[in-house]
Amino acid sequence: MTAKQLKNLTNKGIDKVIETSTTKTLDFEEKTEDLELLSEEKLLTKPKKLPLSKRGTAIEINHVDFYYQHGNKQALFDINMKIKENTVTAFIGPSGCGKSTILRSINRMNDLVEGTALEGEIIVNKSNVYDPGVDVARLRTEVGMVFQKANPFPMSIYDNVAFGPRSQGVKDKAALNQIVEDSLRKAALWDDVKDYLKDSALGLSGGQQQRLCIARAIAMRPKILLMDEPTSALDPIATLKVEELVLKLKDEYTIVIVTHSMAQAARVSDYTAFFLQGELVEFDKTKKIFTNPKDKKTEDYISGRFG
Ligand SMILES: Nc1ncnc2c1ncn2[C@@H]1O[C@H](COP(=O)(O)OP(=O)(O)OP(=O)(O)O)[C@@H](O)[C@H]1O
Ligand SMILES: [Mg+2]
Repeated sequence: MTAKQLKNLTNKGIDKVIETSTTKTLDFEEKTEDLELLSEEKLLTKPKKLPLSKRGTAIEINHVDFYYQHGNKQALFDINMKIKENTVTAFIGPSGCGKSTILRSINRMNDLVEGTALEGEIIVNKSNVYDPGVDVARLRTEVGMVFQKANPFPMSIYDNVAFGPRSQGVKDKAALNQIVEDSLRKAALWDDVKDYLKDSALGLSGGQQQRLCIARAIAMRPKILLMDEPTSALDPIATLKVEELVLKLKDEYTIVIVTHSMAQAARVSDYTAFFLQGELVEFDKTKKIFTNPKDKKTEDYISGRFG
């Protein structure tokens, strides 16, 4: 497929990303290498940040099969992937392909669904999160989650953010104040709410509520943030704010984001995983997936031919 043909197939958002980040004279292979060099060069100017290729593994998924309904329904088939630290990875694929199932397996949220079973292993922090004896509550503080629909607790903005640290035993008022402020700042919500911390969180707009949920997750000081379609209920401006936030947060966290928006995946992620019917079809650098996918099924999906 020529560059022009592929470009015609992709939607406007992706076009923009591809257009602004590539030079017209190179072929796709060269473009990808060129981009990698460019971004690595840029990263190296920031002392703490390693190039993508040198970053360690945050999550390792080995031979994962997943079943619902007491084994009667298999939702995932032999999933294998390594997700790098301080990167954003997008999970894409048509409805029902297993994106949420694999995401929720990482911090054992699926344990809450009766009749589920997982085979294989998921390594976080050098140990398998499914090993017997794993402290699941602790795992979920290290691997935080943000859901599709913002779900603030019916309490004040302050208490929402302080909830996790309090439940972990932080009582000191000054320490709590500091955590609440830091978390709200990181979630780009502090300026909006600093004078209304005692007001109910339910009075915030949808976009603000979603950023509050991100602040609440951050307050637990996780290493990994899982986000399941965090902007699907938001308007374009609120969506953009959350996307900017994701890009900022990856300096400190490893982020996995499920999205139905190809443009969003292209805008925010370093790596993209394409799932289809419970299988991982392709997992690669986002630019590669969107400019030169290996698999015909990936190409069909990103070009809108199905799903
Ligand atoms: N609680 C459940 N009980 C039984 N089957 C389930 C359950 N949750 C999900 N499934 C099934 O597992 C498969 C994968 O579902 P999953 O929710 O992971 O898909 P998804 O890719 O997140 O879809 P969407 O884009 O619509 O959110 C589907 O066939 C779905 O019907
Ligand atoms: Mg889902």
